[in-house]
Amino acid sequence: MNIPIPPASGACGQSLPHESARAHVTGQARFIDDLPELAGTLHAAPILSPLAHGRLLGLDSAAALALPGVVGLVLAADIPGARLLPTSARDEPVLAQDELLYAGQVIGLAVATDRETARRAARLVQIQAEPLPALLSARAAHAAGHYVAPPVHLVRGDVAAALARAPHRLAGQFESGAQEHFYLEGQVAYAQPQEQGQWLVHSSSQHPGEVQHCIASALGLGNHEVQVVCRRLGGGFGGKETQASQIAVWATLAAHKFGRPVKLRLDRKDDFLITGKRHAFSFDWQAGFDDQGRLLALELTELADCGFSADLSVPVCDRAVFHSDNAYFLEHVAIHSWRCRTHKQSSTAFRGFGGPQGMLAIETVMGEIARRLGLDPLEVRRVNLYGTQERNVTPYGMVLEDNILAPLIDRLAHRARYLERRAAIAQWNAANPVIKRGLALTPVKFGISFTATSLNQAGALVHVYTDGSVLLNHGGTEMGQGLHTKVAQIVAQALGLPLPCVRVSASDTARVPNASATAASSGTDLNGRAAQLAAFQIRERLARFVAEQDGCAASEVRFEQAQVVSPQARRNWQEVVAKAYSARIQLWSDGYYRTPKIHYDPRTLSGRPFYYFAYGAACSEVALDTLTGESRVLAVDILHDVGRSINPALDIGQIEGGFVQGMGWLTSEELVWDAQGRLLTHGPSSYKIPSAGDLPAEFRIELWPEANREDNVFGSKAVGEPPFMLAISVWEALRDAVAQARGDGQPVRLDAPATPERLLRAIGGLDAPAG
Ligand code: MTE
Ligand code: MOS
Repeated sequence: MNIPIPPASGACGQSLPHESARAHVTGQARFIDDLPELAGTLHAAPILSPLAHGRLLGLDSAAALALPGVVGLVLAADIPGARLLPTSARDEPVLAQDELLYAGQVIGLAVATDRETARRAARLVQIQAEPLPALLSARAAHAAGHYVAPPVHLVRGDVAAALARAPHRLAGQFESGAQEHFYLEGQVAYAQPQEQGQWLVHSSSQHPGEVQHCIASALGLGNHEVQVVCRRLGGGFGGKETQASQIAVWATLAAHKFGRPVKLRLDRKDDFLITGKRHAFSFDWQAGFDDQGRLLALELTELADCGFSADLSVPVCDRAVFHSDNAYFLEHVAIHSWRCRTHKQSSTAFRGFGGPQGMLAIETVMGEIARRLGLDPLEVRRVNLYGTQERNVTPYGMVLEDNILAPLIDRLAHRARYLERRAAIAQWNAANPVIKRGLALTPVKFGISFTATSLNQAGALVHVYTDGSVLLNHGGTEMGQGLHTKVAQIVAQALGLPLPCVRVSASDTARVPNASATAASSGTDLNGRAAQLAAFQIRERLARFVAEQDGCAASEVRFEQAQVVSPQARRNWQEVVAKAYSARIQLWSDGYYRTPKIHYDPRTLSGRPFYYFAYGAACSEVALDTLTGESRVLAVDILHDVGRSINPALDIGQIEGGFVQGMGWLTSEELVWDAQGRLLTHGPSSYKIPSAGDLPAEFRIELWPEANREDNVFGSKAVGEPPFMLAISVWEALRDAVAQARGDGQPVRLDAPATPERLLRAIGGLDAPAG
């Protein structure tokens, strides 16, 4: 089935600039720290636990309180409402009380008339605490039986028997590291007391509704007393899905105690020390396969370092399990997922949400099988792809109805000249003793929907003013990904208007209630559809109004190019709107959408958790300096499936950004904790995210030319996270280069990120250090 993409007409399908592009680059775009400060605004700074695990005995705050400008401290005893965050696990104190659970945990806040004084005061608070033994890795916590939630075992077929009869067997073990979000705008909130005990809080959050709920809980108020607003985030990447809430709660607690507005903007170092990161994983695997490299059995154990609290670890680890197949049919499989509780920052959502870790494991296995058999890794990947009939059901029982993996990979291999380059690289490596090259082509299949079915709903409000201009509000948040632009395009298209007629307002809990987090890449799918349905209702009312005058059917009235066209007459949009208002026609509407078809039973680990899959593949070529371990990504070709693109420029931007962020995770971004559990890497000087100079010199991106086969808004597919995992091609290309440097056909033992140190050790045949 091929659904060709028709040429764009109207606002959707066009590469229009981001709604804030100009404001971003001219500095006009306001982030929370740019908002004018109200008179009397105070500033808060966090007081951090120095211990990974310990008993808190007391605080000496005399020196801090003596600083001129300091108004006081906020401690757990100052919380009028619940002292635990209202998460389902109820395992996270708003402020630490008796037990310290990680180095960096917030014990309290110093509050002062300016930010620098608040920070100085926070550092002057003396903390008396007694150390307790700390668990600092998933393997250590697993050995101690310390978890945030029970394990999940997803089993299909008979792995033991299939392993026993497989002609070949391999086993391995490796680690993938944590990753800091490094959003350019750090965590920030600004709490402003309103009349009658009510609150207005500006929060850089992907989930204003949860911020509202957490503040109300800590203050002992109803949600209706708290309004949370977010015009935009300077990046979130999952790091502000749950963890923006604490910052906003702390700011509001301080504002409550002192009866004044309070701003809390975390310093970059504090942000690193306090907030959670991508889950580090430890993998153990065992695979059985035949002479063609076809996987006959896979046993995979995934230990996740969840940190001190559950946060989103259960759905993150579930998603890792759901993506441990990636693009491959696994007949006999057992995946064991352990959610380990350690004395570290609470690991949280990060682009891909466990998907990257699950896929990294299976792609590593594919590479190892190919090396063992002396086959091209792409051939091994091909024979294992999901196919038709019996080979199209995932281990959790979801049928792949829209599988485009084989044609997509073939097309990319052709475009990227995979075979010719494979030969050229072999020649290069034979001739060059120092610089070795590597190549890999890896696929991505990523499930779209929140796995918690209830979250797959959204609302929107569309206002048409009497002058014909349109203000749109929806439950999603703008973090740079272009959500507001796409949703505005959808509404403009529905009303037949040019894009400048539609403005998107700030995300606001007082306009659209109970909105889900902008996450799981589903922002446009959910909010775009809700807004479209709202616009359709307005359009329908206007069509009926015009049809009545012209004596035609409402279905004959069209909205295009800012005109309302009936078989009888062509009118300006503005004129129709003004007349409809005078005739007392409602010019605004809500819209509500929930994703169809999805269902999932966590007890049996089966169902259809995803509405559809987004597919893609990347071919990466790397160069590795075998003397220093340094590496470079030379060329990248990507073919990615965004369905029928609402905005190709924004989609390609997401593909580029996601890929490069994935490169960072797998190559240079290394978080290091010392033996006491203190995070040593807490700024750009010690933590290396990719910069412009790390971009591949050749970076070619093509969009797959088919619409979504499911009925999704405009025929599009979600794009926010899936491209992140295309960077696994870089990991596999580096492992290819290591294998070529060694030339001994042995497995490549490597942990992620593949830093120069680890690559050198891998070339030397030494085990990489764990963790
Ligand atoms: N792109 C930018 N520029 N900034 C971000 O913070 N977050 C990513 C992705 N792309 C992010 C981004 C993550 S983790 C998700 S889940 C999606 O955007 C969320 O937005 P969407 O659902 O509108 O795609
Ligand atoms: Mo994205 S990790 O779902 O915020």
